Amino acid sequence: MAKKKETVGKTIQVAFALCIVCSVIVSAAAVSLRPQQALNQELDIKSNILQAAGMSEPGANRERIEEQFGQFTPRLVDLRTGKFTTPEELGVPDALSYDQYRAAGDPNMSTRLSSAQDTANIRRRAHAATVYILEEDGEMVRVVLPVHGPGLWSTLYGFISLEGDLNTIEGIGFYDHAETPGLGGEVDNPRWKSQWVGQKLYSDDKSEPQIRLVKGGADRSAEDGEHQIDALSGATLTARGVENLVNFWMGEDGFAPFFKNLRDGEA
Ligand SMILES: Cc1cc2nc3c(=O)[nH]c(=O)nc-3n(C[C@H](O)[C@H](O)[C@H](O)COP(=O)(O)O)c2cc1C
Repeated sequence: MAKKKETVGKTIQVAFALCIVCSVIVSAAAVSLRPQQALNQELDIKSNILQAAGMSEPGANRERIEEQFGQFTPRLVDLRTGKFTTPEELGVPDALSYDQYRAAGDPNMSTRLSSAQDTANIRRRAHAATVYILEEDGEMVRVVLPVHGPGLWSTLYGFISLEGDLNTIEGIGFYDHAETPGLGGEVDNPRWKSQWVGQKLYSDDKSEPQIRLVKGGADRSAEDGEHQIDALSGATLTARGVENLVNFWMGEDGFAPFFKNLRDGEA
């Protein structure tokens, strides 16, 4: 039987057809996996909120994470007034759908900070943030707040959890950063994170947050020992970023007006 003659044109045609088929398969897979990816991202955020609040359980499955997270009420806070706002006001279906970080890039949904205000070097602050409140017998016993700011190589995104006194820290955790493992990446070390538990944000007047990351080690017996945390050895720049971002978000241009309104029953 005569062998079919292969031509360059035919080879290109076959390669082209193969490319089309492959790209259709890849696109279909990407599109069909998108809802699952969004669900996983949402679950990751919930699990990080539980971690910051000291409520995460090792090996917890999706149902358990959802159950634990279900104890929190997500609420939207207008950072300009320090008062609760509504999803309708922000044009989102619910508090969980609001994306503070996307809003920070939109001039209509964020404020440019002056250099005097911008102590964490974040440039723009969204008008609103989602906070996660846990109540017992109608009393707020815990609130988890989003925080972010630059370290050395990257922006660190995380949560800080406070007790109902809005002063005692229950935990902190960063779910996204690109600091160097073993140096700035030690922000993820459970031993380092455990130092934050029980430390205080404010001194008696509750105006300016006082957190200090101390190079050479925190001195708990010092006058301001309840505000001190060990700096990260060999990673002073990441540590400074963490100190700045915590003090910014707990300060006047972050959540401090909201805390004041909560204390006064005016949020
Ligand atoms: C490869 C490399 C990675 C580094 N990663 C970090 C980091 O993630 N965070 C940080 O603060 N410093 C990092 N540093 C060190 C900084 O350049 C700087 O020396 C350090 O922050 C000073 O901290 P120290 O005073 O505690 O030594 C890194 C240095 C090198 C060479």
